[in-house]
Amino acid sequence: MSAILTIARLGGQGDGVADTEKGPVFVPFALPGERVNVALAGRKADLVSVLDASPQRIEPACRHFTRCGGCAVQHLEADAYRSWKRGLLVEALRAKGIGIEVGPLVSCPPHSRRRAALTARRADKGMVLGFNAALSHRIVDIEECPVMLPQLVAALPLLRQLAGLVARTNDAFRLSVTHTASGLDVAAQGSGRLEGQPRQRAIEFCIANGIARLTVDGEIVIEPKKPALMVGEVSVSPPPGAFLQAVETAEEAMSDLVAGHLARAKRVADLFAGIGTFALRLARQSEVHAVEGDAAALAALDRAFRFGHGLKKVTVEKRDLFVRPLTFKELDAGFDGLVFDPPRAGAEAQAAQIARSQVRLVAAVSCNPLTLARDLAILIAGGYVLKSVTPIDQFLWSPHLEAVALLEKPKKRR
Ligand SMILES: C[S@@+](CC[C@H](N)C(=O)[O-])C[C@H]1O[C@@H](n2cnc3c(N)ncnc32)[C@H](O)[C@@H]1O
Repeated sequence: MSAILTIARLGGQGDGVADTEKGPVFVPFALPGERVNVALAGRKADLVSVLDASPQRIEPACRHFTRCGGCAVQHLEADAYRSWKRGLLVEALRAKGIGIEVGPLVSCPPHSRRRAALTARRADKGMVLGFNAALSHRIVDIEECPVMLPQLVAALPLLRQLAGLVARTNDAFRLSVTHTASGLDVAAQGSGRLEGQPRQRAIEFCIANGIARLTVDGEIVIEPKKPALMVGEVSVSPPPGAFLQAVETAEEAMSDLVAGHLARAKRVADLFAGIGTFALRLARQSEVHAVEGDAAALAALDRAFRFGHGLKKVTVEKRDLFVRPLTFKELDAGFDGLVFDPPRAGAEAQAAQIARSQVRLVAAVSCNPLTLARDLAILIAGGYVLKSVTPIDQFLWSPHLEAVALLEKPKKRR
């Protein structure tokens, strides 16, 4: 059914929201103040045409915008975009009753994303490689991307060829690629068993084209050069599939905030430590105990520490922090500073233990404002004072947002 709607605001997913008698209707790619002609489908509507365009509407940076599901808000003028993005964190904190002036948004430039999770599939016309369309299994074959590093964009034709060599079925599969100092680190997932001649051809292709590593379903097929990344001044070789902050400048902004806050701490716990993004930088100033659930990531962290120079002691512990968070007693016995950086689900159980502890300085890093707000509310109820919250636009033009919150627990009166 078609309708004419007026957009009231931009929602949390970047859709224009129109308030109707039947409730809110979400219109992707429409902007506040616009009168739009839409095709209604329940609470969602497809934008048919813009009748009165917002003065804040701009030309999107990418020709694939609106078809590719990677970006939601490329059509909004920069200041308004930044205000919407920061607002996601403001709203999440307000909903949990947390009153603090959220810091200005730290921007990340276009063409800065060093890792991309692409989807590939063999089609009649050849290999399709790109991102899924929004809420769909349809793959948008991409030729450009203003979010990814230019080196990744330039490698798309090569990656399309490699996808063709590893694809052993006609099903869609995941092709993740990371730009590292020693070349591209490529990992296929779900592409079928790679054996015999096809495997040999893929190996020869990687060698001929300077690809650092090819992994299929977690098995390293070939690794002519160990992928290497600098974490501060320490070189780390990430294992296939380990978590990596998507944008280097975002990682540096987060690390600077965390390290500045924990500068006075002598012994720091880094919880959900990954390959040591924070631990290896913090070890310049404090002893660090890094706790993480992924054994391979921890082994990479440990190896990097052993080969690093000028670092204080770093110890590692493999532990499921959802099931067995560090207890407040363990925290009190060992640490005067702490950083935690959980996955999107947040760290509810761990936050409950931190809240009961007397660890003075705490930094919370998160890629999900909703679970961050929940975890911060737990810490505040436990006596922590929230000093600052900084939003970081690591996921440009998408509705995702990174944030760093810094907290302190006042000393107990005797
Ligand atoms: C957002 S990443 C942060 C990693 C690291 N701090 C960084 O900045 O690169 C979250 C990390 O939590 C780890 N993780 C996920 N679930 C976990 C769990 N239940 N227990 C411990 N670690 C977990 C993941 O392996 C991942 O390394």
